[in-house]
Amino acid sequence: MKKLAKSLIFLWGVSGFTVTGCVVSAVPAPPVDSVAEAAGAAEKVSRTLWGDNVGAMDPFIDALLAKMTLEEKIGQLNLLTSGWDVTGPTMNEDYKDDIAAGKVGAVFNAFTASYTRSLQKIAVEQTRLGIPLLFGYDVIHGHRTIFPISLGEAASWDLAAIEAAARVAATEAAAEGVHWTFAPMVDIARDPRWGRISEGSGEDVYLSTQIATARVKGFQGEDLAALDTLLACAKHYAAYGQAQGGRDYHTTDMSERELWDTYLPPFQATVEAGVATLMTAFNDLNGVPTTGSAYLLDDILKTRWGFEGFVVTDYTSINEMVPHGFARDNRHATQLAINTGVDMDMQGAVFVDHLKALVLEGKVARDRIDAAARKILAMKYRLGLFDDPYRYMDEDRQQREIYKPENLQAARDMARKSMVLLKNADGLLPLRKNGLSLAVIGPLADSKADMIGSWAAAGDRHDKPVTLLEGIRAAVGDDTKVTYARGGGYEFDDTDRSGFADAMAIARTADVIILAMGEKWDMTGEAASRTSLDLPGTQPALMRALRELGKPMVLVLMNGRPLTINWAATEVDAILETWYAGTMGGFAIADVLFGDYNPSGKLPVTFPRSVGQIPLYYNMKNTGRPYDVNGVEQKYRSRYIDSPNTPLYPFGYGLSYTTFTYSEIRLDSAQMAAGGTLTASVTVTNSGARDGEEVVQLYVRDLVGSVTRPVRELKGFQKIMLKKGQSQTVTFALQPADLAFHRRDMSYGAEAGEFKLFIGGSSEAVKEADFTLLDTVVLRPAHSPQVRALPHYHSTRNPIASLTHE
Ligand code: BGC
Repeated sequence: MKKLAKSLIFLWGVSGFTVTGCVVSAVPAPPVDSVAEAAGAAEKVSRTLWGDNVGAMDPFIDALLAKMTLEEKIGQLNLLTSGWDVTGPTMNEDYKDDIAAGKVGAVFNAFTASYTRSLQKIAVEQTRLGIPLLFGYDVIHGHRTIFPISLGEAASWDLAAIEAAARVAATEAAAEGVHWTFAPMVDIARDPRWGRISEGSGEDVYLSTQIATARVKGFQGEDLAALDTLLACAKHYAAYGQAQGGRDYHTTDMSERELWDTYLPPFQATVEAGVATLMTAFNDLNGVPTTGSAYLLDDILKTRWGFEGFVVTDYTSINEMVPHGFARDNRHATQLAINTGVDMDMQGAVFVDHLKALVLEGKVARDRIDAAARKILAMKYRLGLFDDPYRYMDEDRQQREIYKPENLQAARDMARKSMVLLKNADGLLPLRKNGLSLAVIGPLADSKADMIGSWAAAGDRHDKPVTLLEGIRAAVGDDTKVTYARGGGYEFDDTDRSGFADAMAIARTADVIILAMGEKWDMTGEAASRTSLDLPGTQPALMRALRELGKPMVLVLMNGRPLTINWAATEVDAILETWYAGTMGGFAIADVLFGDYNPSGKLPVTFPRSVGQIPLYYNMKNTGRPYDVNGVEQKYRSRYIDSPNTPLYPFGYGLSYTTFTYSEIRLDSAQMAAGGTLTASVTVTNSGARDGEEVVQLYVRDLVGSVTRPVRELKGFQKIMLKKGQSQTVTFALQPADLAFHRRDMSYGAEAGEFKLFIGGSSEAVKEADFTLLDTVVLRPAHSPQVRALPHYHSTRNPIASLTHE
């Protein structure tokens, strides 16, 4: 039973609240007096993180704004893309004219020191005030040296390595004149049909939040003006990951509680980490396109979270409010976007077309334009561009930084860490390097283009990536024979089986068959939704044909989403999930296949058995009729009649070449008080024959709540290295803040009552302990979502926005 009698109300500051409090060193934030103060605190945090010298910057920008015409200010809010030619990025001549006319504040998709310099020269030398351009680019998982796709990096559960990967990406991109990356993508995604699941950190709030913070730190470092850092951009705000039916750009509709408990926390974490910019999303949320949502942009982002950076739209998403049926035309859409808090228009060109007239008509306040321009100019100032507009564009540095050996080594290391061993029957892996005959087969075995996945920035798809075949050849001894056949195709409409014969021929004489199968690189990422999660093309048929030979078979998966691989899970001996492993992918996979690296990755996302189970994620609710595999009457239970409820592979799952055993859990107390800390310890032993790493995971379940609670929630993890035979005690510290959620009245807090705690190597961890939270602790008071979420919400802070939706 809950002990609701003792109910403590603590109003903790937004900036003080920590969701990372689950580590031993965590210290609870001090209480503050009011939420208003909390918002103020957040502002200070971000400006401090940006190293602001407000004393010098603010007067400089005041003076600059005083000199600027309305058109010049609007020009700063305009972001246009560079195009592509065979020789590299180019700029449409009309856009060059726009730059010279002061109608462009920022350019994206432009890189290389010389090319960005040539555009910068136009802005500096040909515009009246010489305000430098800001250069943005999608540097998502590497710039030239490509790391594993973001979902793959998340599978490493290695925050230091993820931060380091972002830093390498920033270093390379900044040397080519880039100032700003459109990353991290922090959308929680629980529907693998959605191709963009590959760009985020998976399904879990806690893991995604930690990774989001690590990436912001990695990109931005300690100093925005440093030449090896980039401005980061948290995207896509918000709830883009829950597109209905997994179809990209589709509607999202969800409860306020789901929004606040699941989809907003990673964004809030990036704001707390000092992210410089945020990007709106393409979707509408509960009826309001996010790019025109005063609730998201004004109320939550600016007022409650105190965000002081600038907000950019996604690509033409202001214009898209017209087909959404939310704006009558582009002018109306422009008015809605600017008045609700958008500062920069990506590629829609609607600000330059319509803002001036809207100001003259009195529908947009001049102050609002000034505020948006100020935020963008402030970022240029922080980057040091007013001191030297060309400071990032340095051919020598570019030469030195791109593909540095350390960068390639970091990419290889990250790739090894990202791989998840899904199956390893009879210890088939690791393979020995000598005296074997290996048949390497599949459309992904020797495909450079696929190795780096989607959103691979300036990554080379032709020469640089190391394929699996190349990696294997480089790893094995002279007395190991390696043969190769592509065998089949991975296009959706591939039916041609003529390559099967070659594949069968080399497989017949081999000791082990290594299959490289999955998805073609552009089947994941943006606009890559699928209705089936099966291996496409002739791959399944080829796999089945080869299985008939009865040889040991390893499946190396390359893909950007969970796949339904039920047949392989039963029939193939070993399965290694490698995602798209990046420039050094082939070497990294070989490191794992031959045991130079013992796999340590854990799934950041559930692998379902079938599309029909979607959405399937580990922290679901119990329902009123939970299915019990051991129960007697099972008909009227929450279950499928043609499939188990369970996934093929659960969240947090991943094997190693060694084994780990867990002791019972030890709690320092069976009770936690408000303001108190409870520690849970477990001794983990490497009980196998090899050194290895384990991701020790802590989950909790709140047994009774004022609203129903998930069956498990990740609240902490530690990745540890244990030599064979070695044991280590791992301790987690939990505080009431770690148990908080949006309660029945939408206040945010932890409720007194009984909890279960689980520790283990996956979300199905079996070691458990019970504890009681003695007091209800409210960390933030309730807000009124019903009123604020109305599509035509009238902000009281923004006089223009409050006028009308007109
Ligand atoms: C994507 C964004 C990306 C932008 C710029 C859009 O289509 O949704 O994630 O940052 O393009 O390339």
